[in-house]
Amino acid sequence: MKTSLMVCNDPIGIFDSGLGGISIANAITHRLPNEKLVYIADSAHAPYGDKSDHFIYTRCRHMVDFLIKHNAKMIIVACNTATLSCIDKLRQEYTLPFVGVEPGIKPAILSTKSGKVGVLATKSSLNSEKYQKLATSLAADKDVFNQACIGLVEQIEKLDFDSADTKLLLKKYIAPLLLKGADQLVLGCTHYPFVYKQIAEIVGDRANIIDTSESVATQAIKIATKVGLSNTIKPTTEIYSSLLNDKMHDQIKTLWNTNSISIYPLN
Ligand code: DGL
Repeated sequence: MKTSLMVCNDPIGIFDSGLGGISIANAITHRLPNEKLVYIADSAHAPYGDKSDHFIYTRCRHMVDFLIKHNAKMIIVACNTATLSCIDKLRQEYTLPFVGVEPGIKPAILSTKSGKVGVLATKSSLNSEKYQKLATSLAADKDVFNQACIGLVEQIEKLDFDSADTKLLLKKYIAPLLLKGADQLVLGCTHYPFVYKQIAEIVGDRANIIDTSESVATQAIKIATKVGLSNTIKPTTEIYSSLLNDKMHDQIKTLWNTNSISIYPLN
């Protein structure tokens, strides 16, 4: 018997503390060009990495309610920090499907030859109970070196990828992990893929860099297929930012891989 695919032209909702989640949005748009996305960048409140669970949860609820008002058929929490802090609570509270993003410890553990893995993430992600449990359960006989990258999200929010300050910060965080023998380096924050090139220059061939954007996109596509895919031709992505000025407008346009976007302030 032939099964027909469900069609649903409602948008996919996606949010992050700022611009980092665009790394995931780009991966989805590349593979599902007919899907309309509604993206929220909460840049006025970035970084989330030094905020309390309560603060992060309150912001997430605000954004989820907003996306539901915009008819989101599912929501991608494109932020490791928010996922680790409160996606379980969000799933309990709302009925629509959520996809989250967590540091890619599993692929790192499966690939390491030295038995040593480095994880770059925010302070809040690394301190979260969910992350601690994940790391302990997956890496029983391996060494996981956690590195909180304080200040890095702020540099990336400014699109300050190539400055001496950003490179110094990256070196400060990455060099000790390489010295300890880590041969896998996990990018545990959706902002970090935007400085992949700068990270790769530091790492050289000493470690493999693990970016989870593609696997999160794969998971999101799986869920979207169940809910119903859109058959819109060239949909316009809507982006809402809590910190919208001319500079931010240009920054969003620079990071987004397609031209069909409209940018609005988030109230
Ligand atoms: N993109 C967010 C993440 O993946 C950044 C968190 C922050 O704002 O500190 O964790």
